[in-house]
Amino acid sequence: MKSFIIIGHKAATAPFSLNDLPGAAGRMDILCRCVNAALFLSHDLRRDVRVYLVLKGEPAPPKLICFDGSGVRYLNPDERSAASLIRKALEKNAQGFWTESTPGVSVRKGGLGDLLSELNRKITYLREDGGDVRGRSFEEPLFVLGDHLGVTDDEEKSIEKYENEVVSVGPLSLHADHCIVLLHNEMDRQENA
Ligand SMILES: C[S@@+](CC[C@H](N)C(=O)[O-])C[C@H]1O[C@@H](n2cnc3c(N)ncnc32)[C@H](O)[C@@H]1O
Repeated sequence: MKSFIIIGHKAATAPFSLNDLPGAAGRMDILCRCVNAALFLSHDLRRDVRVYLVLKGEPAPPKLICFDGSGVRYLNPDERSAASLIRKALEKNAQGFWTESTPGVSVRKGGLGDLLSELNRKITYLREDGGDVRGRSFEEPLFVLGDHLGVTDDEEKSIEKYENEVVSVGPLSLHADHCIVLLHNEMDRQENA
């Protein structure tokens, strides 16, 4: 199982309009692109991937959404489709435990710290100044990435409570979904070598 956590600092925590994902929905477009980059192959899905979104925007932060590649249904490779499943999840009365909103998509109350404590695994934290991803091998990896605002000092402190490594996918600052594609490519090459 490969897991990706993406932190959405402004991402809405109540149902939002699908017509303004970057604005009113708090850069939900970034998170939707990350879901697609993590889960989609050409004409197939990566069944061994889970994507966790940390939603930290108004009006009811924080909330967590999970897309499980082994069970997700009704997901098409466009931002609006992922956004529509997130919106459906936010229609649920989120509790401190996971509730499935549509097949393969679940929601719960909680933030990054709650999620890391639940998963309790070694973390690979993606940061521009990290060590080179090339040549590393990943076993049951748990990757953490920021959105357009990066990762805050407090979030870094939460990450540092666990065994972790800081990894870079290259010398330039990239969009989070592009980093995910590069990570998959590294792992695909290793698995098919
Ligand atoms: C658009 S970047 C964040 C830019 C933000 N302005 C900042 O200064 O942190 C979004 C996320 O992608 C990841 N990222 C971007 N470029 C990367 C790179 N070259 N290596 C590793 N991670 C990267 C990081 O997790 C980052 O938080």
